[in-house]
Amino acid sequence: MQLTLFLLLLLEDQISYTMSKFCANLAFLFTERPLTERYQLAKNAGFKCVESGFPFGFTKEQVSQAKNAAGIEQVLINTYTGDVTKGEMGFAAIPGKEIDFRDSIKKTIEYAKAVGARKIHIMSGKILEEVTEIHHQTYENNLKYAASELEKHNIVAIIEPINKYSVPNYYMNSYKRALEVIRKINNPNLKIMLDIFHLQLIEGNVTNTIKDLKEFIGHVQIAQVPHRNEPNTDGELNYKYILNVLKNVGYDDWIGLEYKPKNDTSSGLKWIQEMDFIL
Ligand SMILES: *[C@@H]1O[C@H](CO)[C@@H](O)[C@H](O)[C@H]1NC(C)=O
Ligand SMILES: *[C@@H]1O[C@H](CO)[C@@H](O)[C@H](O)[C@H]1NC(C)=O
Repeated sequence: MQLTLFLLLLLEDQISYTMSKFCANLAFLFTERPLTERYQLAKNAGFKCVESGFPFGFTKEQVSQAKNAAGIEQVLINTYTGDVTKGEMGFAAIPGKEIDFRDSIKKTIEYAKAVGARKIHIMSGKILEEVTEIHHQTYENNLKYAASELEKHNIVAIIEPINKYSVPNYYMNSYKRALEVIRKINNPNLKIMLDIFHLQLIEGNVTNTIKDLKEFIGHVQIAQVPHRNEPNTDGELNYKYILNVLKNVGYDDWIGLEYKPKNDTSSGLKWIQEMDFIL
């Protein structure tokens, strides 16, 4: 009896220790329930931190109330994307939508401040016509504005290459382009989202690319490839190895769990204990 209790306490300790590296992405995990309930579900599962997409359908008061009631941290939030059902996925690279872009940044800052998020993922939008210099120029001008605007609020601006199989026609779909823009704008407040799922589908060469990008990594997300399930499910990536590479290049901030639970969220979380020995 005493021993069982001891082992249970040990296990509990282990879970909260490993959980201190990972944050639950509320657009992917706990989607069994509405967004405002997911904060508490994440907390109950042992998470200390979450990240989210833009909280469509909820006021910033509702979201911050849910977050505070759960007593959990939120590190990141995505920009207001516009109407996703009409194909809108942000405005940063869309010529003629500069006002919408600035509005989306303003609106997202308000939500970020309400939940205390210190990173905003700025979405580029999709380009259905041929991509030309005008799109590159629009993207650069908008990001330049956003990086310095967010800096005033101590919020890091993050851009994310997204692979073309998951989101066809999404403008920001290349690490080379992301690096080029970041070097050009040259504001340390502008960084890259390294989603290892997208990295494998865009570039491959995972270890080398992580090392090449290390000084520009603003946030990390993970999922298995190609099915985007839990990191320990069958697939192309060995996360025991990859998480060590990230640790060795000095990344020590939250790692977002942006995967689709293969079954339900809670039973899928067992993989975290399996990773314990390296963290
Ligand atoms: C992998 O990355 C390294 C380091 O940047 C580079 O030299 C090499 O060419 C890349 N390999 C491929 C196949 O892209
Ligand atoms: C899938 O989820 C159900 C409901 O929580 C659970 O009973 C079952 O054991 C899970 N199966 C696997 C393989 O995790």
